[in-house]
Amino acid sequence: MNWIAIGTIDDIPVRGARCVETPQGRIGVFRTAQDQVFAIEDHCPHKRGPLSQGIVHGTSVTCPLHNWVISLETGQALGADEGAVRTIPVCREGGHLFIALAAVVEKAA
Ligand code: FES
Repeated sequence: MNWIAIGTIDDIPVRGARCVETPQGRIGVFRTAQDQVFAIEDHCPHKRGPLSQGIVHGTSVTCPLHNWVISLETGQALGADEGAVRTIPVCREGGHLFIALAAVVEKAA
């Protein structure tokens, strides 16, 4: 795992999100009303809507495009909808946030 510093919790509005561009795609980092922080891929499993622009409620986010509800804890679509996004580990040290990206293994030529 490669831990990458992404700023502080104060950079994220309460019940909001911000995006982090990584070599492995865009990650949405979400802050709940209870100051929990979660990171998931920033594309809805339905039609790739930007989840970071959705509405955070509890530990879920509602996609802004067609209202699917995605668990921030598991990345799974909730209710009758099926699909999932990858969750990304988040570490908090004081107010500083880090996300873990899987190490990219390159094949030898
Ligand atoms: S793209 Fe998210 S609900 Fe359709």
